[in-house]
Amino acid sequence: MNDIYQSLFTPLPLNNGVTLNNRFAMAPMLVFASNQDGTVSQDDLYYFALRNRVGQLLISGAMAVSEEGLGMPRQLAVYNDSYIPGLKILSAVMKCAGNKAIMQLHNAGREAIAAYQKFGRVLAPTAMNFPFLPYVPEELTEDQITAIIDDFGKATQRAIDAGFDGVEIHGANHYLLQQFFSAYSNHRTDHWGGSLENRMHFPLAVLHKVKEVVTQHAQKDFIVGYRISPEEVHGENVGYTIDDSLQLIDRIVEDGVDYLHIAQFNYKAYPAKGGNKAIATLVKRTINGRTPLIVVGNIFSPREAVDAMQYGDIIAFGRNAIIEPLFAQKLYFDQEDQIETSVAGRLDDLALSQTLLDYWKAPNTILAPLKGLTY
Ligand SMILES: Cc1cc2nc3c(=O)[nH]c(=O)nc-3n(C[C@H](O)[C@H](O)[C@H](O)COP(=O)(O)O)c2cc1C
Repeated sequence: MNDIYQSLFTPLPLNNGVTLNNRFAMAPMLVFASNQDGTVSQDDLYYFALRNRVGQLLISGAMAVSEEGLGMPRQLAVYNDSYIPGLKILSAVMKCAGNKAIMQLHNAGREAIAAYQKFGRVLAPTAMNFPFLPYVPEELTEDQITAIIDDFGKATQRAIDAGFDGVEIHGANHYLLQQFFSAYSNHRTDHWGGSLENRMHFPLAVLHKVKEVVTQHAQKDFIVGYRISPEEVHGENVGYTIDDSLQLIDRIVEDGVDYLHIAQFNYKAYPAKGGNKAIATLVKRTINGRTPLIVVGNIFSPREAVDAMQYGDIIAFGRNAIIEPLFAQKLYFDQEDQIETSVAGRLDDLALSQTLLDYWKAPNTILAPLKGLTY
């Protein structure tokens, strides 16, 4: 391996005693390939079999912990025990090259479009009109909130039973945990809303429940990660600023996680309201060595991978894991010149679901900025 890539292959101990032997992770990405009932399909297995060398941490796409929090059709589900047999095969496929299989735990809240199609309603912290949604969510009752927190615990137990090495709590991308933390979407006046402190209660309650199950039922080396969107600022519309989220991050890290993962479209992004430090730099300063930080967003080339290591301790590939599943391996074995940078002419070899193929080809989707977008 070329010395300039040393930082990417330096071992990293996690708080739970596990040592990762490289700094690559596969970012959570929905595969949109599950069977109609949310069980693992053959296409899910093909997708992960091709990508189980992306990095030491392989994070699954978001999996629904509650049926009423189901975000997308063809999303994997983990809301009852019948999902465990398929998930066991999935974890085995993810782990068979020696890497760690992490299950991302998810409730879409107001964005639970698949749940809306099933039940004709969605549940969120506050019943309000969102201009970008075709329905008004119902306000969660106290009992429903408690039930969802329990669902995160039960899903963690199923992840353990299905052989996963860890779970990642999905607190990012405008889904339920973020909806509780956001002053824009949470107007509650009870324990779960109002002040910044109160808006932290739900994400922290989920973390505590997950950790309770892990402490009681998992082996010591089970991994608990937390993913957060570091700010929610859309012009005048502010759910929370980076200063707010640094306070939540401080609490999450203090309560104990094996890594913190910030969801961004660019690893070196600056706060929306400006400032002279990158978001990741501010987060890393807040973490202050208590747990590793995963950074993500627009990391495609070896140069960008090395540069991203200045911002975090682990770098995650989203779209790049779709384009080049062997990026880390090729760097390690001095085959940099063989790293694929485009999907051109290769789409049929990438084990992508029809939905992902359609996304890839459509203009103006999350995949559109991709380099080499020709097919
Ligand atoms: C097809 C697709 C599906 C995604 N699904 C998820 C998901 O399930 N959970 C999540 O936290 N982020 C999800 N993301 C966001 C990615 O994890 C990542 O943060 C984003 O793509 C930026 O990284 P990149 O520039 O390396 O692609 C998804 C992204 C894509 C492209």
